Amino acid sequence: MTEIHDLFARNRTWSEVVRKTQPDFFTKLSQQQSPRFLWIGCSDSRVPANEIVGMLPGELFVHRNVANVVVHTDLNCLSVLQYAVDVLKVDHVIVCGHYGCGGVQASLERRKLGLIDNWLRHIRDVHHKHAIAVEAVLAPVEKLDTLCELNVIEQALNVCQTTVVQDAWARGQQVQVHSWIYGLKDGLVKDLGLNVGKQEEITPAYGRVLARYRAKA
Ligand code: CO
Repeated sequence: MTEIHDLFARNRTWSEVVRKTQPDFFTKLSQQQSPRFLWIGCSDSRVPANEIVGMLPGELFVHRNVANVVVHTDLNCLSVLQYAVDVLKVDHVIVCGHYGCGGVQASLERRKLGLIDNWLRHIRDVHHKHAIAVEAVLAPVEKLDTLCELNVIEQALNVCQTTVVQDAWARGQQVQVHSWIYGLKDGLVKDLGLNVGKQEEITPAYGRVLARYRAKA
């Protein structure tokens, strides 16, 4: 079993390996970061943002919380988004959820876990909004997968509707918002189809994506 002090040993090994392969790696990175992508993902330990998309430190700006939720009053998430868009000027904001998400599952099963129930209430709201599509799926695993997907779509929509992204689009800044989902079983990322780069694209893109769920229901 890995003990807490082992983490220092692992860190030294990692630092040595990086220095050997790229001697100027840390010097360069310590001077500035210029990531082109903001990743908003789940805190789940099995979904490490950089590794999944094969990116090195410096290439991905990351915000993670339980079940990759974007709430309009969450100053933490909004500050990350604002800094990424206004200062770093990222080209893409990716909301990436994952199948088998524990947070989504707890919401679906109405499990009582304490304080976090208040956070997960946002996913219960997604469930409520899309009750017909979710309830039409009978198998429990597929029902969970469906709600995981719909949660990503709703959170990506929330990103589009933030003042940060709306203001960026209004001044002509190029920012593309994406909705992705990661499979724990195969390590693959799938595009859920809500890709928006302009205010006027929101409604048609959202309509197209939701039509797929309505067809299934
Ligand atoms: Co999760």
